[in-house]
Amino acid sequence: MSSFDLDPDALRRLGRLATEIVARRRETLLERPVFGKVGEARALFEAPLPEQGRPVEDVLAHVERDVLSRPFGNSHPRFFAFINATADPVGVVADYLAADTNSNCWGGDHASIHVEKLVVRWLAEIVGLPATAEGIVTSGGSMANFTALAAARRAKTPWDVREEGAAAEGRPRIVVYASDQVHNCVDKSVDLLGLGFKYLRKIPTDDGFRMRLDRLRAAIAADRAAGLQPAIVVGNAGTVNTGAIDALDAIATLCAEEGLWFHADGAYGGMAAISERLRPLFAGLERADSVAADPHKWMYVPFSAGATLVRDPGRLAETFRRPAEYLIHDAESPVNGPVSFNDRGPELSRGFRALKVYMGLLVHGRRAYAEAVERDCDLAGHLARAVDAHPDFERLAEPVLSIVNFRYRPKDTALDDVALDALNQRIVNGLVASGGFFPAPTRLKGRASMRVCIVNFRTTPADLDALVAEAAAIGRSLASA
Ligand SMILES: Cc1ncc(COP(=O)(O)O)c(C=O)c1O
Repeated sequence: MSSFDLDPDALRRLGRLATEIVARRRETLLERPVFGKVGEARALFEAPLPEQGRPVEDVLAHVERDVLSRPFGNSHPRFFAFINATADPVGVVADYLAADTNSNCWGGDHASIHVEKLVVRWLAEIVGLPATAEGIVTSGGSMANFTALAAARRAKTPWDVREEGAAAEGRPRIVVYASDQVHNCVDKSVDLLGLGFKYLRKIPTDDGFRMRLDRLRAAIAADRAAGLQPAIVVGNAGTVNTGAIDALDAIATLCAEEGLWFHADGAYGGMAAISERLRPLFAGLERADSVAADPHKWMYVPFSAGATLVRDPGRLAETFRRPAEYLIHDAESPVNGPVSFNDRGPELSRGFRALKVYMGLLVHGRRAYAEAVERDCDLAGHLARAVDAHPDFERLAEPVLSIVNFRYRPKDTALDDVALDALNQRIVNGLVASGGFFPAPTRLKGRASMRVCIVNFRTTPADLDALVAEAAAIGRSLASA
C-alpha cells in the first residue's frame, strides 16, 4: 500500500485524533484570546521544506499547539469584526465528508451535482427568486458578485462582449451604478470585467446610508446625455458598514423602466430574508435579475461558500460556456448530469461546498435559521440600547440588521473630530490587543466608528455588556492620558 494511503482502521484512529482536537478547542474556547496573534512566534512558520516526513501524530500535535491555537477568532462569542460568522459544527463535519469524496463538482450525474442544484434552488427560494432561477455555489460573496456582474455585463452590452471585449471601438462604454456604501468586491469586479472604475458611479447615500434614488436617476440621465450606455444597478441588501438596505423595490422599478440589469448584493443581508419577521425589509429583492448570497456569513457554514443566483435560466451559461475538446460534449455520455457548473462560472475543478449548506438546512431546518438570524438582530438592538444608555458613547447609525456603529465621546472632555477618530481607533486596537474582544474599525460619513457585527450563535447579551464596559474603561484611560 502506498505510504499516502491509510487502511480503514488507521483512518478511524486519525479521525478520532482530529475529532478530539476539535472538541478540545470547543471546550477551551473561552479561555483563549479571541484573536490568535502570531507576533513573536513567527519563527514557527519559517521552517525549511521538509525532506523526510514525520509521524502524523507529531504533526497533529504541532498543528494543535502552534497553528490552531492562533486562529483569526471568529468562532469566539466576542468576535464582532467584519462579517465573519462562527462556524456551525454540522458544516465542519460536512467539509470533512466532502473532502473525503473529493468529488469534482464541474458537472456530471453524480450526487454532489444534484445536491448543489437543490441548494441553489433553496437559496433562490429564501431570497424570493422563482423556482426557475439558476445559480452556482461560489467561494464567497466576492465571487458571487463577480459571477453575477459578468452575466449582467454579457446581457446588457449591446454587442457581443465576449467576442469584442468591453471597450469595443466606436461603441459607447457601459456604466455600472452602486451606492457609496457598496462593498469593494463590486469595484474589483468592475475592474476585472474590463469596465473601468471610471464607469462605476458611486451614488451618494441618505442619512440611513441608503442609495439616493434622485441622484441615481440624475446620474443615469447624465450618462445617457453624454452618449454612454447605462447598464447595471447594484442594490445593497445589507451594506457591509451598517447593514443598510437600499430601496430595492424602487430600484427594481427604475431598472425595469430604464432597461437596466438589477443586481442585489445580498452577501451580508440576503440570507436574513429566511426570517418572516425580517423579510419585509427586503421588499423588491425578489425582483432582482441576480442576487449574490453568502451562506458562510449568515448561515454560519464554515468558509467558504457563497452563491450567485440569477433569475433567467441560461444567462450564466451564455456568459461562461466555452467548449473544449478535452471536456465532455457527447450527448450520449453516461457522465452527463443535470447541470454543468463549469458553464456557470469561471472555475472548472470545484469542491463540494454545497454539502455543508445542504446538511445544515437538513439538520436545522428553515425555522432554526430564521430564529438565529432574528436573535443576532435582537442582540444588536441590545447593544444599541446599552450604548445609548452610556453617557460617554454616541451611536453613529441605526442598526437595521445585526451591525451597530458607535464611538466613544467622553462627555466631560472636549475633543474635536480628529482627536475622537484617533481615540476610537486606539480603543479598537486596545480591545483586540487585550485578547478579550474583536470589533473592527470603519469610517461612516467621515467619522471613525467602532463597528460590531453579530453573526454568531454563541454571543450573549452579557458579551455585549462586557464589550461596552471594557471599551469605556480603555477610552477613559486613554482620554485621561
Ligand atoms: C455586502 C457584502 N458584499 C460582499 C462581501 C464579500 O464577501 P466575501 O468576503 O464572502 O468575499 C461582503 C463581505 O463582508 C459584504 O459584506
